Amino acid sequence: MTTPVFFIRDLPIHGSLILAPLSGYNDQPFRRLCLEFGAALVYTGLLSASAILYGSQRSDELLRFHPDEHPLACQLFGSDVDILAKAARAVEALGIDVLDFNMGCAEPKIVKGGHGAALLKDPALIGRIVTQLVATVRVPVTGKIRLGWDAGSRNYLEVARILEDSGAAMLAVHGRTADQQYTGRADWDAIAAVKQAVRIPVLASGDVKCAADISRIQARTGCDGVMIGRAAIGNPWIFQYRDLPDVPWAERVPVILEHLRRMVDFHGEYLGLRRFRKHLRRYLTSTDVSRQQRRAFLQCEDLATFTALLESVAGV
Ligand SMILES: Cc1cc2nc3c(=O)[nH]c(=O)nc-3n(C[C@H](O)[C@H](O)[C@H](O)COP(=O)(O)O)c2cc1C
Repeated sequence: MTTPVFFIRDLPIHGSLILAPLSGYNDQPFRRLCLEFGAALVYTGLLSASAILYGSQRSDELLRFHPDEHPLACQLFGSDVDILAKAARAVEALGIDVLDFNMGCAEPKIVKGGHGAALLKDPALIGRIVTQLVATVRVPVTGKIRLGWDAGSRNYLEVARILEDSGAAMLAVHGRTADQQYTGRADWDAIAAVKQAVRIPVLASGDVKCAADISRIQARTGCDGVMIGRAAIGNPWIFQYRDLPDVPWAERVPVILEHLRRMVDFHGEYLGLRRFRKHLRRYLTSTDVSRQQRRAFLQCEDLATFTALLESVAGV
């Protein structure tokens, strides 16, 4: 085993590239694939603390972890201290390595409920929640934030210090405010300021679009790890510092098939194939696959036809 690059409290992390939480993408098959390609830690997408307690079918599916899936951070969202603590205890029992708390999601349906990035408007509540989570679970508790609610309230340094003082073991920072959603550019200098302000490890998130960006964001922020989000979709090779145009089609084919097979095993053939399409769109970029073939792939309804189709264009 290699020397750890950093520790999340007592949990060694053997690399600096981390799969960011990506709701709608980070299911068990994708997380495992990214770990196999070299991600040093993977996150679930955000999970509702109250839905976990009610045992919703969607949460049950999102909480089906694979024994090989380590280290794994499970991300919760919510704003009620007691509900979050109960949900944290429930997910800890499933064998996760890290409990992460979401303070960055800016989706209207999340912030309307006072959850996600809406919490950045109430740093004292963040402190109470994280203190309670730390007291409740044995695994390290971490947090993911944005820079603030909007340009007039960029309170990331205050929130970062509160998280550290409340016992958080690591902090991930997406370098945008909530009202920016995904527009503009991530402010890597603000992430650097967070790294300077706290002693716990900090992960940098935002706009790592290609392998060369990894060393750029590391140099600019001095962060312990780099989160890779959108750039990992359809390109698990990014965890080996490779961009899609540098991965020949012949090398992509077995990975596409393995990823799809695992999705079909996990979700069943109907849902697995449909949910795979958004990954597939990316896998097919920078190839000579024709528009017609692309359409045939994306409309494919069963694994056998898909496999035959992939093999038929394997020589392109
Ligand atoms: C489709 C999608 C889903 C996301 N889901 C989550 C989530 O569940 N929890 C979270 O903290 N961030 C979520 N994010 C934010 C990412 O983790 C990341 O911070 C952001 O995309 C910036 O990084 P990138 O430029 O590498 O994608 C999501 C982003 C996208 C595009």
